[in-house]
Amino acid sequence: MSSLILPNYQQQSPEVAARFERLKSRPVSLKVENLGKTFHSHQGEVVALKDISFKVHHREFLSVIGPSGCGKSTLIRILAGLETLSSGEVKVDGNPVRGPGPDRGMVFQGYTLFPWLTVKANVMFGLEMTGSAKIYAEQEARQWIQLVGLEKFENAYPHQLSGGMKQRVAIARALANRPKILLMDEPFGALDAQTRAHMQSYLLKIWEAVDVTILFITHDLDEAVYLSDRILVLKAHPGEVQEMIEVPVAHPRNRDQFVQPEFLATRKHIEDMIHPPGDAPELEFKMPRMTDVDNTIH
Ligand SMILES: Nc1ncnc2c1ncn2[C@@H]1O[C@H](COP(=O)(O)OP(=O)(O)O)[C@@H](O)[C@H]1O
Ligand SMILES: [Mg+2]
Repeated sequence: MSSLILPNYQQQSPEVAARFERLKSRPVSLKVENLGKTFHSHQGEVVALKDISFKVHHREFLSVIGPSGCGKSTLIRILAGLETLSSGEVKVDGNPVRGPGPDRGMVFQGYTLFPWLTVKANVMFGLEMTGSAKIYAEQEARQWIQLVGLEKFENAYPHQLSGGMKQRVAIARALANRPKILLMDEPFGALDAQTRAHMQSYLLKIWEAVDVTILFITHDLDEAVYLSDRILVLKAHPGEVQEMIEVPVAHPRNRDQFVQPEFLATRKHIEDMIHPPGDAPELEFKMPRMTDVDNTIH
């Protein structure tokens, strides 16, 4: 990779620059201002997040990336209203977040479907909770199940589904409540590589078809570059903003772009930030010989 001459990731084609102009002229869906979070535990204080500020515009796809322990899950839990903040403020469409609400839908890495409910009942669950009539909830659920391509499985139970299908149901369930923002915490982290690739392309299609802003957490660099308009890079201990990157790759996205120079340049830039050269784990260790076979041909 080092012998390859890559463009500067900050260089944008006129088409990409114009897209960012349009994106930034849209209303702000999510505003995070000087957010801080300190955990108090028996071992002492842990500053998980420090002075985090950023905005996400309407229908933007923003990814958050950073090393393990940099506070990604803490951040998304605060945005979801599942965790309190220690300082700063979070606003959705200008309204301060005080707890969970139907304006924010959440998809986690672990499969969080109710195992005793069918696909349809899982998707209907939130709608019925918020007081929708059963007949309306059923109609809505069907529509979202169709969007994620699972109409043949609406009466199946979660244990009858593959991992990718379960996550599609989780996405349908989150979208059925028509959230303004979809919060996703490493949603494809437990899937095998091929299913993960399908789910990424699938999510892009869903995002194009639905009026929703997405905040997506990942530690996979290719996934972040492929999916996002912008990428917020965090560093650890304490979790702070390292950089907000505008991804210079054109839309609509397709997997052939993985080898385009601007894709590779962005990926390399993030890689160097998260794993700075010289920070590599020790790879030179003495390998005990485990065979008597003559392997001098190696
Ligand atoms: N409930 C908690 N109590 C104490 N410390 C916590 C708690 N949750 C997270 N932390 C700490 O906050 C930091 C960020 O954790 P987390 O948000 O899970 O990071 P990430 O998702 O980026 O891996 C870590 O140092 C973690 O140990
Ligand atoms: Mg996490």
